[in-house]
Amino acid sequence: MPNIALLPGDGIGPEVATAAIEVLNAVATDLTYDEHKVGGAGIDEYGVAMTDDTMAACKASDAVLLGAVGGPKWDTNETGAVRAEDALFGLRAGLGLYANLRPIRPLPALYDASPLKRELIENVDMLIVRELTGGLYYGERGTKDGRAYDTLVYTVEEIERIVRAGFRAAKSRVTSVDKANVLDTSRLWRDVATRIHAEEFPTIELEHELVDAAAMKLISAPRHFEVIVTENMFGDILSDEASMLTGSLGMLPTASLGGDGPSMFEPVHGSAPDITGQGIANPIGMILSGALLLRHGLGREAEAAAVESAVDKALDKGIRSRDLGGTATTAEVTKAVLEEL
Ligand code: NAD
Ligand code: IPM
Ligand code: MN
Repeated sequence: MPNIALLPGDGIGPEVATAAIEVLNAVATDLTYDEHKVGGAGIDEYGVAMTDDTMAACKASDAVLLGAVGGPKWDTNETGAVRAEDALFGLRAGLGLYANLRPIRPLPALYDASPLKRELIENVDMLIVRELTGGLYYGERGTKDGRAYDTLVYTVEEIERIVRAGFRAAKSRVTSVDKANVLDTSRLWRDVATRIHAEEFPTIELEHELVDAAAMKLISAPRHFEVIVTENMFGDILSDEASMLTGSLGMLPTASLGGDGPSMFEPVHGSAPDITGQGIANPIGMILSGALLLRHGLGREAEAAAVESAVDKALDKGIRSRDLGGTATTAEVTKAVLEEL
């Protein structure tokens, strides 16, 4: 009986987590869930974004499913203060989840929900492989005497393993995105990617693209991209941008992989304070994160595919939450997906 560590978090996190669990229950009746408060909810209850007990429970679980953390209530600019987002950094580093997969597959039913022209997004099938446990997010930082700094560090090993993850996920082309015209870390990244390509994946095309130009091409020629592999912060920014190809940030799921133990699954979006408590959040990114949990976390391909196909069918029949231009509530979208299972 696989046990899932369920971390609903803050804002719309609990709203979309409820939806995902309903869908998971419909395809995998043997899963058990242990729920823990993390993020702002963790700070309110225990004074920290994630307790040691919660971390231990996550490590002992078969997979971690997270809603979203953070929100204005816990935002602070005070140096060294506890932050809701610390839960994410603790989990990612603590579980060794260096490879964050962010698939971007606009569904035909939603081509017209995107602000981009249909002919640009037709047949886009892209994967952003975001490095998740290094770079600016984990470098030394500080504020002192009117000066603040964050450091961007990568080792050869960290680059090798994420670049390999990118090539393994690709059929024909990997685009490595960096800022090698400015940053030393990017020049190392480019050298390592070039070497791993030549030594291990010569049959797959490797191209290098500077991040500013890549951001532009994501919008002007998104079909060009198959797998994008990039450092932590570039991947964060490019994936929110790419979400608009699917019509909404609320559509994107992620899988964070690479550790020896359980993997973690969560939507790309955050806690959406502006719509919290209204019951209108789009639950699809979270439901699809449940599908990725079934596939990558538990090896249940058939059930994962069933969830994805139910989402497709529900959208084909016209269900749309507000972010996609419709009026359906979170519960109505969830019901529509359940009806297709
Ligand atoms: P956000 O992703 O929460 O919201 C950005 C915009 O997208 C908002 O207008 C929101 O209403 C909309 N949106 C997001 N998800 C949606 C959904 N499922 N359905 C409909 N609309 C949706 O980003 P933000 O507002 O910049 O950040 C809010 C908080 O969330 C911050 O504290 C941030 O740190 C946190 N955050 C957490 C995660 C995470 O837990 N993985 C990810 C991103 C942001
Ligand atoms: C994400 C989020 C987080 C990140 C924030 C909340 C720290 O934006 O998962 O994309 O930047 O990694
Ligand atoms: Mn983000």
